[in-house]
This record gives sequence, structure tokens and C-alpha cells, in this order.
Amino acid sequence: MIPFDKRDGKIWYNNELIDWQNVKLHVLSHGLHYASCVFEGLRVYDGEIFKLEEHTERFFHSAKRLGMDIPYDENEINLATKKTVAAQNVQNGYIRPFAWRGSEMMAISAQHTKIHIAIAAWEWGTYFDPKLKTKGIKLNISKWKKPGPDTIPWDSKASGLYMINTLSKHEAERDGFTDSLMLDHEGNIAEATGANIFFKDSNNEFHTPIPDSFLDGITRRTVIEIARSKNMKVHERKISPSELPNFTGCFLTGTAAEVTPVSKIDKYDYKVCESILDLSSSYDNLVRKKRAA
Ligand SMILES: Cc1ncc(COP(=O)(O)O)c(C=O)c1O
Repeated sequence: MIPFDKRDGKIWYNNELIDWQNVKLHVLSHGLHYASCVFEGLRVYDGEIFKLEEHTERFFHSAKRLGMDIPYDENEINLATKKTVAAQNVQNGYIRPFAWRGSEMMAISAQHTKIHIAIAAWEWGTYFDPKLKTKGIKLNISKWKKPGPDTIPWDSKASGLYMINTLSKHEAERDGFTDSLMLDHEGNIAEATGANIFFKDSNNEFHTPIPDSFLDGITRRTVIEIARSKNMKVHERKISPSELPNFTGCFLTGTAAEVTPVSKIDKYDYKVCESILDLSSSYDNLVRKKRAA
């Protein structure tokens, strides 16, 4: 794989499209040392950006939660995102907008740092091995718990929140799992390291945790809408890990993960059943609706 700093094309950086390999930030950047950085992840399907406005809105929300004032408006970021995708000619790929504090101050206080914005886009396939989209992935249960909602701006997509997600993912991979299920501060089921989680019970009804200390994914909301439009029941509620043996199916949702079935959590096996595959293909149809129309 070509390292991300060695790729070609353009990155939108502080209102200009710059040659990919020349976009630099100084090592003494507040964003790097103190995690004053927020980001988004979007997908492009058949040349169209899926839910651009919703992602941009969340980008601004995340920045606001970290006290960062993005020096553009949402419309300008939407246009910049489209411009980046067009410059890179991305047809089916991923977009990463991000904002961080610069180098003017290098201490905890960062009141006078400049807020930098960049947007990069590249061709990209599935997040997990495509075979696992039908076979299902295996999750361990992380020993790291999501922080309590009064300890961190949990409803943002802030880079600092991902420290324990990367640790969890690495530990899962070391132990032969694909990803990790994280519990919340009270020990209830929260989410995977980069995706929300749903369960299916023996009555063909779905259950997903209430996002009250972790990200309420845009894909999560989309999949709930799809399921309800098909008269499938979705319960948003607290879910205890002691319920894991009672469920028959499980899947993850996320911009990167899309709808990915889960075949195992810890020692519990789940079936990749028709209704989960149906939700997965309905999601694929929705994101590519322009082509189908
Ligand atoms: C930690 C985490 N939870 C959930 C999600 C799913 O969010 P979305 O569906 O908006 O991509 C993501 C991906 O962005 C994530 O990183």
C-alpha cells in the first residue's frame, strides 16, 4: 500500500488545493501534542458524496464542542469537499475533512492558535475484507471502556477519543479478532472501534444501544430508518453484555463499515441471517440510488 504521505493529487488545505505531497504541518502543532483535532469520514459512491451536509454539520458540531471556530461556513466546506473529490476524480472512495489547532502556542492553553482545515479524498473499497461482508466479522470485548459523558466531549468526532479505540483494535487483532466491542462507562454495550452496533433477537426484532456516551452514527440513523420502513422493529435501549447469549444476529454500521455482519463476539456465535443481509443490501442500494434511478 502506498503510504498516505507519498500519494499524488491535491489536498484542500486552508482554502487552496495544494499538491498532495507538499501539504505539511509543523511538528510543534497543538493538534498533534494535545489532540485538538476533529475530523469527519464520508464516502463517495459512483461519484456522489453520501450525506455531505449531515457530515459537514457534524464536523462543525465537533469543532464547536472543542471550542474551535472553523473559519468558513458550512456551505464553503461543502463546496470545498466537492472540489476536492472532483480534483482527485474519486468515483468510489473516502473523504477525510479535518480541523486542528496550529503552532502559535505550545501549551495547554491554546486560545490564540490558528484553526487549520484540510480535506483529502481517495479511492477506497470496503473497510473490512470484502469476504467478511457476507461471512461476518469477529469481535472481542475490549478491556477499555468508553469514558463517561461528563468526562469528555463524547458526541464529537475528536481525534483524542480514538486513543482507546486504536488500543482496543490492536489488542483484538493481536488475539485473532477483526474488531473490538467497547462497553460504556457503566458497563453497557456501546459500539465497536469505528462503528455502531445492532443485535437481532429470535423474534426478528433489532436492538441498538442509545448513543448517550458515544457517536450517534449517521449510518446508524440511516439503517434505523431503512429497518422501520420495512416494518422491522428497532429498539434503542441500554443493552447489557449479559444479553449477548440471547441474541441470534449482530451487525455493525458506519460510513466506513457500511452494514457489516458480525459472526462472533467473544465466545458467542451469531448467524448472518436473511434480514441482516437484506438491511445490508438495502443500504448499498440507498447509497447508490443515483445510479439506480
Ligand atoms: C467511533 C465511531 N462510532 C460510530 C461511527 C459511525 O458513524 P457514521 O455512521 O456517522 O460514520 C464511527 C465512524 O465514523 C466511529 O468512528
